[in-house]
Amino acid sequence: MKKRAAPAAASITVTVDLHERSYPIIIGHGTLEQIGPLVAAKLKARRAAVVTNPIVGKLYGRRVATSLQQAGCEVVSVQIPDGEEHKNLASLSRVYDRLLRQRIDRDSPIIALGGGIIGDLTGFAAATLLRGIPYAQVPTTLLAQVDSSVGGKTGINHPSGKNLIGAFYQPRLVLIDVGTLQTLPRREVLAGLVEVIKYGVILDPNLFALIERDLDRIIALDSDLLRDVVAQCCRLKAMVVARDEREADYRSILNFGHTLGHAVESLTAYKRYLHGEAVAIGMAFALQLSTIRGYCERATMQRVIELLKRAGLPVEIPPKLRGEQLASAIESDKKMASGKVKFVCLERLGQTRFEYLTSEEIAAVAAQYINVGGQ
Ligand SMILES: NC(=O)c1ccc[n+]([C@@H]2O[C@H](COP(=O)([O-])OP(=O)(O)OC[C@H]3O[C@@H](n4cnc5c(N)ncnc54)[C@H](O)[C@@H]3O)[C@@H](O)[C@H]2O)c1
Ligand SMILES: [Zn+2]
Repeated sequence: MKKRAAPAAASITVTVDLHERSYPIIIGHGTLEQIGPLVAAKLKARRAAVVTNPIVGKLYGRRVATSLQQAGCEVVSVQIPDGEEHKNLASLSRVYDRLLRQRIDRDSPIIALGGGIIGDLTGFAAATLLRGIPYAQVPTTLLAQVDSSVGGKTGINHPSGKNLIGAFYQPRLVLIDVGTLQTLPRREVLAGLVEVIKYGVILDPNLFALIERDLDRIIALDSDLLRDVVAQCCRLKAMVVARDEREADYRSILNFGHTLGHAVESLTAYKRYLHGEAVAIGMAFALQLSTIRGYCERATMQRVIELLKRAGLPVEIPPKLRGEQLASAIESDKKMASGKVKFVCLERLGQTRFEYLTSEEIAAVAAQYINVGGQ
């Protein structure tokens, strides 16, 4: 008797509920080939542009292009160089030039195939070309799958700061293939895991407990488990975005760990830490601040820091950065309003509170050395 191939594990669909701008997030393993049928059916497209970079293009570009062609779509490809330094106006111009030369129109969606850099830049190109072209996110890093591809924040960097030029512009579809994470460097996987842990800490104690229990299987990229974990993160982000699409207030809980994390990133010139690593330091710090102010139990702080350390993530602010420069780095963050920072504190797992603090008040906590590290 012929052995049947094991059926592909089912994919999970999560909806981002934004009325006429609602869209599905499809999460599975081996789902990349669904892009053609989805674009053809959902966007009724005969042509599609794929924006990617040389690394991701080489790994997955052909599978995506073939799937689109088999679904009857003509494909226009654009590549921008890899790296945060290319998330800029020059790369954006390159996308505009190529797509306009190819006479892209409003019925031809753009597909962002790559990590958060490709996703943010492509989303902004889609928001602005011809006053708005539909686009789909096909995120290939863990960070992009659980965070940047969902929620419609798009944009590029400016020499005076990160993400200073941008727009809220929702995709029509997010297609996540957790299989693509198999080729992602381990350090990038762990950096993405920080955002996963963040969702558990601020919104979902059950997710946090699951990560504690199954950390090794997650890091080993067990595909069914990854699909479930990524889907849960997408559900949580979708819930936050549906409640506060434009970050009027509630959505800023997602900045947990980011006030200090951004300062650490900028003080180390974006070279020493990946974003997620700096956020791990920022989360450990936010927990210390919450504990010192009496909002959060010490045991909760220790439990979260322990998990970050088990995942091999940094949790301590480098001693050199604990001085005055920290306050000024926090101040230069664009999220500062009327002299105070809206700082996300934790009360208990799944429960946050906003505190309005001056950059000096925050930096003073960093100066009070608490040994949480062991590095
Ligand atoms: N829009 C949002 O809401 C939001 C949220 C968080 C972060 N961001 C942005 O996301 C960006 C960071 O995204 P990122 O962490 O995905 O970084 P990235 O896009 O630079 O990807 C990381 C690296 O992995 C490579 N890569 C991507 N997929 C791969 C794969 N499957 N296999 C092998 N290599 C692969 C990339 O080429 C790159 O070298 C930042 O610019 C940040 O501002 C946006
Ligand atoms: Zn982040």
